[in-house]
Amino acid sequence: MPEPAPVPVVILGGTGYVAGELLRLLAGHPHLRIAAVVSTSQAGASVTACFPHLAGVLPAELRFEAADAVASYTPRGGLVAIFAATPHGTTAALLDSVLAAAEAAGAEAHAVDLSADFRFADPERFARIYGQAHGAPERAGAFLCAVPEHHQGRPPGHAAQPGCFTTAVLLAAYPLYALGLASGGVFVSAVTGSSGSGRTPGAGTHHPERSGNLYAYSPLAHRHEAEMRQLLAPACGGVEPEVEFVPHSGPFVRGIHATLRLQLVEPMPAAALAAAVAEFYRGAPFVRVTTAPPRLNEVVGTNACRLGVAARSRTAVVTSVIDNLVKGAAGGGVQWMNRLLGLEEDAGLRLAGIGWH
Ligand SMILES: NC(=O)c1ccc[n+]([C@@H]2O[C@H](COP(=O)([O-])OP(=O)(O)OC[C@H]3O[C@@H](n4cnc5c(N)ncnc54)[C@H](OP(=O)(O)O)[C@@H]3O)[C@@H](O)[C@H]2O)c1
Repeated sequence: MPEPAPVPVVILGGTGYVAGELLRLLAGHPHLRIAAVVSTSQAGASVTACFPHLAGVLPAELRFEAADAVASYTPRGGLVAIFAATPHGTTAALLDSVLAAAEAAGAEAHAVDLSADFRFADPERFARIYGQAHGAPERAGAFLCAVPEHHQGRPPGHAAQPGCFTTAVLLAAYPLYALGLASGGVFVSAVTGSSGSGRTPGAGTHHPERSGNLYAYSPLAHRHEAEMRQLLAPACGGVEPEVEFVPHSGPFVRGIHATLRLQLVEPMPAAALAAAVAEFYRGAPFVRVTTAPPRLNEVVGTNACRLGVAARSRTAVVTSVIDNLVKGAAGGGVQWMNRLLGLEEDAGLRLAGIGWH
């Protein structure tokens, strides 16, 4: 039997960091083919001039496209995969128009949103948290938001990847609640690298401010708290647990290191707790569980999440490390797209870590 033709991919937010990471992953994907990289700011410019580290793996002639050119890349009756890597608040309307164009062209479109726009099933909740009306409320119900590890099977429509902090926290806390091993709230202290803030420099992300420095921001007031509560609820009998979240800016470029404290229902040794969490993730290709605290450099550049479990009496501490740009954004997005298209979950994502950088 001949191999099916690769599915064409459209990327929105083409010049951003997450788009660059999508391009790196898709360049080696066996079943997806980069068809159009949409840019609102650089239509017509060379993609590899924007991402010189990708010259050699991307075609030299690849150029950014305007959003209205997308319809010409969506085959009638065929599949098209769309990734939105645009800022929250702008994504919903843009993605809605691209989906509408693909649907009008007769394509079967599957989208993965990497922004916050489709993370809440209730568009009113998005509006309250982000202080602006949702750009496409009628589409909100068509997006499933979760990490793929916490959803069985192939969702019918589109997926929304949780935020990068949320991904690290969900992977650590969800199994303890779902297995009935922990109850009550969770305290989270997490440190992110500077690439989490995207390409545009800001006062808190400028290199001299960040290098050699470490500081908390938005303690107990970060927008991702609501996402964490919503996405932990299915593991807690549908009730949103209390989440106390203190994010920090770290002096490195890539990665998230999160430390969670939870209350166990009964005292449990760390080895037994780690074994239970490892069993929960049996068959999940990207999650590994140990009793030794994992280090960022074990996962940077990969789609892996490593969890380190410690316990004393009824206190459990789980450390969780991911690469914010990969498992927390582009890699998690490709993993979702693989699922939406019925491909192997780890296609294009069998990445060796770089170890040190
Ligand atoms: N960085 C991370 O670690 C991370 C992790 C998880 C989720 N995310 C989310 O992923 C999305 C992209 O993040 P990023 O870090 O790649 O951000 P980024 O580096 O700032 O890139 C976003 C891109 O979106 C486009 N854009 C900017 N303003 C726009 C507007 N008003 N309308 C339409 N497009 C606009 C721009 O590309 P063009 O000018 O080429 O269109 C820009 O380069 C965001 O929603 C972010 O919250 C990021």
